[in-house]
Amino acid sequence: MLEIRNLHARIAEDGTEIIRGLNLTVKNGEVAAIMGPNGSGKSTLSYILTGRSDYEVTEGDILYDGQSILGMDTAERAAAGLFLAFQYPVEIPGVATMQFLKVAMNEQRKARGEDELTTPDFIRRVKAAAANLQIDMAMLKRPLNVGFSGGEKKRAEILQMSLLEPKLCVLDETDSGLDIDALKIVADGVNALRSPDRSFIVITHYQRLLEYIVPDSVHVLYKGQVIKSGDRQLALELESDGYANVIKDAA
Ligand SMILES: Nc1ncnc2c1ncn2[C@@H]1O[C@H](COP(=O)(O)OP(=O)(O)O)[C@@H](O)[C@H]1O
Ligand SMILES: [Mg+2]
Repeated sequence: MLEIRNLHARIAEDGTEIIRGLNLTVKNGEVAAIMGPNGSGKSTLSYILTGRSDYEVTEGDILYDGQSILGMDTAERAAAGLFLAFQYPVEIPGVATMQFLKVAMNEQRKARGEDELTTPDFIRRVKAAAANLQIDMAMLKRPLNVGFSGGEKKRAEILQMSLLEPKLCVLDETDSGLDIDALKIVADGVNALRSPDRSFIVITHYQRLLEYIVPDSVHVLYKGQVIKSGDRQLALELESDGYANVIKDAA
């Protein structure tokens, strides 16, 4: 599904290198967790995956289904099935969430060579997905993310994800700002989407989310590199011992 090879990337504006030789492979159907101290480059990695232009790849490659995506822009990557849930979701004043969803879903369908959804079909799909996430339809009439609480924003993102049916989902700190009930709803939403041909990269600070979204692999990112990989057990060790030992061993 995804293979990141010796990736080096820097901030376009000032040339600071943030990603420094990162390797990561995520198989079809795999849920890979990425953990690491603040400032390791976790969010930067997610931005680079979606093709944000404020970062430049200087070396290495990102292969998605065997093909380099470095030459693709954000829209092309989305059309190819990449989805990113942001750590800080953007607010879009003036665009009702429903309208946003409709455009996004139809763009995705167009890219797949499918017909536009009819309005009744669209409404039916949104209602079903919103009910699963315990999202009130009234919230979807409001402008996207404007005035949404932290938990509402995260739910709105999982709603987008379930409606867009991506192949690779990148979730950046989807647990931050969630109380335990909202965390469970979001995790259930993610778990419901797990399938043999859909992969996830779940970026999180805390092992807590991984009790609900059980990862197949866990990778520690530090100073722009994956310094240790393991299974779920690694997340438990990090939770009890912190990152210091892993960082020392890698040095
Ligand atoms: N656009 C930017 N301008 C300046 N510094 C940045 C920018 N993007 C990332 N950084 C820096 O890169 C490092 C990694 O940041 P980030 O990817 O947000 O880390 P994490 O998500 O692991 O906490 C930090 O030191 C951060 O300050
Ligand atoms: Mg971050």
